[in-house]
Amino acid sequence: MSKKILHILSSPRGGASVTKKLGDAIIRKITAKYPDAVVKERDLAADVFPHLNELQIGAWFVPSADRTPEQIHAIQISDEAIRDLQEADIYVIGAPFYNFAIPSTLKAYLDHIARPGITFRYNEQGKPEGLLKNKTAYIATASSGVYSNGPFQSFDHVSPYLTFILGFLGVTDISFVRAEGLKIEGIRETAFEKGVQSIAIA
Ligand SMILES: Cc1cc2nc3c(=O)[nH]c(=O)nc-3n(C[C@H](O)[C@H](O)[C@H](O)COP(=O)(O)O)c2cc1C
Repeated sequence: MSKKILHILSSPRGGASVTKKLGDAIIRKITAKYPDAVVKERDLAADVFPHLNELQIGAWFVPSADRTPEQIHAIQISDEAIRDLQEADIYVIGAPFYNFAIPSTLKAYLDHIARPGITFRYNEQGKPEGLLKNKTAYIATASSGVYSNGPFQSFDHVSPYLTFILGFLGVTDISFVRAEGLKIEGIRETAFEKGVQSIAIA
């Protein structure tokens, strides 16, 4: 069976986006290993997920057979996004540093796909169990500063948060690919290439 790759983009900068280019480089390396892999792209900057509203949250807790047409319509974007995640084997997620965290477009998306009973649940012992199983995720991140090491490591709320929330949803095989120091002289010149070189496809 051919691998299915889901490329999730969250930069609004189109072709100029470093996280887009890095994600593309990751996909090139994955397809070098799995030539028949198919790629589906979801651009969160082009198709923005709205902030969750009351209708949507309420509809989640109504059994699917009992939902009104309005409720079905309201959570269609969530259902479709989750279907993409369930179908894919590999996620490539573009996540630029925005104010030391992820862009709100990506957070809004995560709020729509973290669904009780569908992408996670709590077992009888009250322990959380992620339901997106057997997935691999590559996070393409980019930043003006350097956060993987050095004095600003604790400023990084991108990798701890994404590691946590993806793990909560069952995705524990996660690699971060960083183009960092994009505004630091002496580092920026090789930042992208260093990121590309660090890509390791398992
Ligand atoms: C709104 C905004 C917030 C940013 N916040 C940070 C930040 O907190 N730390 C940092 O190192 N770079 C920050 N940057 C720089 C971006 O992370 C960097 O330009 C990156 O390349 C953006 O990703 P993209 O090229 O895929 O759009 C910020 C850029 C923007 C536009």
